[in-house]
Amino acid sequence: MSAIMMSGKALAEEMNSEMLEMVNNLKTKGITPGLVVLLVGEDQASQTYVRNKAKRAEKLGVHSLVKRYPNTITEEELLNEIDRFNRDADFHGILVQLPLPKQINAEKVVNAVDSKKDVDGFHPLNMGKLLIGKPDKIACTPYGIMKLLKRHQIEIAGKTAVVIGRSTIVGKPMAQLLLMNDATVTMAHSKTQNLAEVARTADILVVAIGRGNFVTKEFIKPGAVVIDVGMNRDADGKLIGDIKADEVAKVAGYLTPVPGGVGPMTITMLMYQTIESAKRI
Ligand code: GUN
Repeated sequence: MSAIMMSGKALAEEMNSEMLEMVNNLKTKGITPGLVVLLVGEDQASQTYVRNKAKRAEKLGVHSLVKRYPNTITEEELLNEIDRFNRDADFHGILVQLPLPKQINAEKVVNAVDSKKDVDGFHPLNMGKLLIGKPDKIACTPYGIMKLLKRHQIEIAGKTAVVIGRSTIVGKPMAQLLLMNDATVTMAHSKTQNLAEVARTADILVVAIGRGNFVTKEFIKPGAVVIDVGMNRDADGKLIGDIKADEVAKVAGYLTPVPGGVGPMTITMLMYQTIESAKRI
């Protein structure tokens, strides 16, 4: 048996058509959804992410602006810029590309973004809303994973879910979304003992630990739904996930590929939340 591949690329294409319609609808009302991306410094990975976001925005007719700042920008200057965009009605979404240089307190910066424009879903108010089961803006990667699960009609209620990785932007909101959908959720992490054994209890396993090929077939309950959030480079520079896909595909029921699985959904949900935000502001 071989796992069914859950293509984020295909779902992103489907959602692109829906979103294009949403944007066109808004434009008839005189509203063009706008997203501003604040990029500090020259980090290579960040440059690539930002380019991809701008490309997708253009494809959907979303107005996007990439504001670049030198690595030497002070915290105060950056906070002033955010304040300016908070008040600028042309932008319904503000994204500050992370990581930020070390003279800048990233937490302060995230807090400074108007929570209504926080299309990343990182603002503590949005995190808190998710925690109390009344989500507004949701972190894009976990949100995209939920869309993928729904698209494949994966039953969540009553299932055992294990999330490996407890980051604020993936693991924690992921666990919360699964819990909201009535899964029984375990959060595992680098200090978890007998990790493979814990993972093997999962009907739904989400892996976001950032270690290439870490999860082997010993971690997988036969037939499980396995989601790979990893984006790592192997020795040859090839993009690989956290999951050893070739062997896990023989045990799992469903698996997300890398690339083409979770990745395309993250940008999709960013655009989706920008458009939704334009509807409401
Ligand atoms: N850096 C890497 N991924 C992301 C993301 O999704 N949002 C932001 N703001 N920064 C990132």
